[in-house]
Parts: sequence; structure tokens; C-alpha cells
Amino acid sequence: VNPVKKIPVTLLVNGESRHVEVPARRLLSDLLRDDLQLTGTKRGCETGICGACSVHVDGEVVKSCLMLAVHARDREITTVEGLAVGDQLHPLQAAFMTCGGLQCGYCTPGFLMAASAMLAQDLSVDEHDVRTGLNGNLCRCTGYQGIVDSILTTAEKLRGN
Ligand code: FES
Ligand code: FES
Repeated sequence: VNPVKKIPVTLLVNGESRHVEVPARRLLSDLLRDDLQLTGTKRGCETGICGACSVHVDGEVVKSCLMLAVHARDREITTVEGLAVGDQLHPLQAAFMTCGGLQCGYCTPGFLMAASAMLAQDLSVDEHDVRTGLNGNLCRCTGYQGIVDSILTTAEKLRGN
């Protein structure tokens, strides 16, 4: 039996240069969780529907179960572990705590990544924009209101209102 050929990949993850060797068909989600032990990124549907695996790639939200690890070569990846700065939570993380946005822990990292990319692009979002922006993230057991409130509260705070 031939051993699986591995391909070297260097990428920047949460500001740190990382080097791994992966099989050609390794998913970015698996690289993050299994090679780098960044288990905040969740494996849910693995078909691009649920958004639990959402990360930022060069600032854009990407479902990491839909991206091959080799395609992340030389790209800048941010996972939920990279949102806080030291002990300082990202404003969205703080708002999720105070506004009831925190849910099961499975969907929450994906919601945080989608929301942080949304606010990085536009702080003037209204409720409709937020709900539309979250259409790639599913929660199958509670509601979205606490999440929407958290994002709107954060946007307002960051606007300085
Ligand atoms: S695990 Fe990637 S979208 Fe569901
Ligand atoms: S999937 Fe996370 S609270 Fe329902």
C-alpha cells in the first residue's frame, strides 16, 4: 500500500505562521481542528449548509468544510480563537454574553465569525441586514433574536452611539 502523499502548506492562522503537511483532499476545517487543534471551528453538516465551520479567509467568511486545505496556502485565516485579543473579548463576544446571543456552543463560533465579518464591512447594518447576513448560519434548536440583538448592539456601540 502506498502511503498517502502529503503536500506542504504554510498559512497564517490567527496571526501566526503555521506549516503543516496534508493529504491533497484534506479540508480546511479538518486542518484547523485536527492538525492545529483549533477546535472552536465546528464540523456540522460538512456540506456547506449550517455555517458551524465558518472562518475568515483574507477577511471574507468562508465555510471551511467547503475549502481544501491546500487552497488556503499563503492565505490569512482567522478562527473564533483569534477574535479575542489576549483576555480582551471581541466586542461581539461580549455582546453575545450580555444580550443572550450565546447558544449551544456548536453554532455560536460560526455566528460570531459571520457577524464579525459583517460588521467589519458595515457598521450601519439594520435588523434586516443582520438577518440576511446570517442566512448561511443555522441554529436548529433555539431562536435567532438574541444573536440579532447582540450584533445590532455591537454595531451601535462601535459606531459610538
Ligand atoms: S460544517 Fe461547514 S457548513 Fe456545515
Ligand atoms: S444549534 Fe446552537 S443553539 Fe441550536
